[in-house]
Amino acid sequence: MSEFSIRPVGASDREWVARFISERWGAEFIVAHHQVYHCKDLPGFVAVQQQDRVGLLTYEITGDGCEIVSLDSTRPGMGIGTGLLAAVKVEALKAGCGRLWLVTTNDNMNALRFYQKRGFVLVKVNRNAIEFARTLKSIPLIGAEGIPLRDEIELEMILDGIAG
Ligand SMILES: CC(C)(COP(=O)(O)OP(=O)(O)OC[C@H]1O[C@@H](n2cnc3c(N)ncnc32)[C@H](O)[C@@H]1OP(=O)(O)O)[C@@H](O)C(=O)NCCC(=O)NCCS
Repeated sequence: MSEFSIRPVGASDREWVARFISERWGAEFIVAHHQVYHCKDLPGFVAVQQQDRVGLLTYEITGDGCEIVSLDSTRPGMGIGTGLLAAVKVEALKAGCGRLWLVTTNDNMNALRFYQKRGFVLVKVNRNAIEFARTLKSIPLIGAEGIPLRDEIELEMILDGIAG
């Protein structure tokens, strides 16, 4: 398997972003902490391998914080997720953010492991937050590994001004 590269999302990626998010998350938009995000309008990074787009991270910078709105890799275990994370961290530092953060759902053990192993800590539980999201899009009652899908868990990494 060949190497992949990471580049910022460009204008020509926007329609693909909408389709990709829809395939991965069941709608063109993502609902997090009672907010709706249209990922195709957000800045982001794409991972490319042999002409194929194989990963996407979208983010939003607000005030001191850089929120990872979506992160997906279609070829797991090759370092694509880690690479996308490194790219947004550099961007957040450049923008002077003190905090990189995100929410994931309570059933997403894979994401909880992934982020904690890469320096994120759990900071908050938004209990029953998925109930609101279900008013806007179809989300199953039972999530990954048969776990009831209910809450959002917020994770953060405090940025100390040193990229890496
Ligand atoms: C979470 C997610 C983005 C991780 O993406 P990924 O491309 O698999 O990430 P990586 O390859 O960098 O890391 C995954 C694992 O592969 C391992 N890995 C990294 N580079 C590797 C390489 N070159 N060869 C083999 N394994 C490797 C890592 O050690 C890691 O394992 P660990 O978490 O136990 O340390 C991916 O699983 C995904 O798309 N999940 C569904 C969407 C989701 O839940 N997103 C997060 C919520 S917003």
